[in-house]
Amino acid sequence: MSLDIQQIRKKFPILDREVNGQPLIYFDNGATTQKPKEVLDVLNHYYEYYNANVHRGIHTLSQEATDKMEESRRKVQAFVNAKHEHEIIFTRGTTEAINLVASSFGELLVEGDEILITQIEHHSNIVPWQLLAQRKKAVLRYIPLSAEGILDLSQLDQLLTNKTKLVALNQVSNALGVVNPIKEIITKAHQVGAKVLIDGAQSTPHIPIDVQEMDCDFFAFSGHKMYGPTGIGVLYGKEELLNLMPPYHGGGEMIKEVNLDFSTYACLPFKFEAGTPDVAGIIGLGAAIDFINSIGINEIHDYEMSLIDYTMQRLKTLPEVEIYAANAPHSGAISFNLKLDGVHASDVGMILDKKGIAVRTGHHCAQPIMKFFCIPGTVRISFAIYNTKEEIDQFIEGLKTAIRMLA
Ligand SMILES: Cc1ncc(COP(=O)(O)O)c(C=O)c1O
Repeated sequence: MSLDIQQIRKKFPILDREVNGQPLIYFDNGATTQKPKEVLDVLNHYYEYYNANVHRGIHTLSQEATDKMEESRRKVQAFVNAKHEHEIIFTRGTTEAINLVASSFGELLVEGDEILITQIEHHSNIVPWQLLAQRKKAVLRYIPLSAEGILDLSQLDQLLTNKTKLVALNQVSNALGVVNPIKEIITKAHQVGAKVLIDGAQSTPHIPIDVQEMDCDFFAFSGHKMYGPTGIGVLYGKEELLNLMPPYHGGGEMIKEVNLDFSTYACLPFKFEAGTPDVAGIIGLGAAIDFINSIGINEIHDYEMSLIDYTMQRLKTLPEVEIYAANAPHSGAISFNLKLDGVHASDVGMILDKKGIAVRTGHHCAQPIMKFFCIPGTVRISFAIYNTKEEIDQFIEGLKTAIRMLA
């Protein structure tokens, strides 16, 4: 089926605006995607028509808001193919979802236990584990990288021991756009009894997700990177694990009964959802999933892969461009630098911005991989369903201008 990208673009009001006198070309989708009209309308409709706190009132508005919120939970459940809807926990984003696991699952760790992550993680999948390792006197280990900057699994069997309690890694790297071999890692981690958390922040917008087929124990992602609002994210966790884990935050809604000297806790998922949730954000995330489903995640994947292939092909014709991990499988993003002395990624980003083209430059919250390459940062071009080959052509022309100006 061929997609009508122009029709899809019409759903995104922001794509009509100009930047520096040029039509906006938005290639910073890895940071956050733009929002379609149906998501914006749903947010407005919630506040204009049935704004109320959830799960607490018997009045109509509260009931309507609660029903819509729980409908969104079922949409998320179907989107990632979780077995139960109570395995879907709403968080503020991927960062909070990972912190929840580090804090709560982390309570089950004892001194000397090991946590295994990789050298190509976002800071939000490094720092919470460092904090946990300090707190529990656990040992944090890293899967190393090959010279090309992709995971080197040759030492995986030695890195996984019977002390490894958790393995955490991203499905797609935000820094390089590389797809990691999570299936192999999950299988091997389970063989030593370790649990696995997958950071899906950069995969959920681009790749069909099936947590049961993947057999991960936890899966974290953010709404705003998949056409939804900011401030809302998801932690999927296997029921039996979530049941074992102590609560994360204490407060309203997460309790069964509170006494002056002790409290008992609500069942899943509410045990992990203390306080008033981001009702609008949750409903907006449901609308974002409807938007993705209206196109089809497989169709989005195939179309975006054609953009990736085309960009790779065009970038490879420019001898001044160095693409990172160019031969590894990519999804959603490509990272590169110009091989010109004294030129920084931000120089390229500023010249492109003058042409209305938004790319991200810097370390992308992944300093260890930048240190691995001995660079301060890269230029990252990242895609969404509304991007086109014509936009890529204009980006390549902009890049040629940058090369001429900076050489
Ligand atoms: C791979 C990855 N993990 C985690 C995060 C953190 O996501 P958030 O800031 O939405 O919590 C990001 C955001 O860029 C990311 O790309």
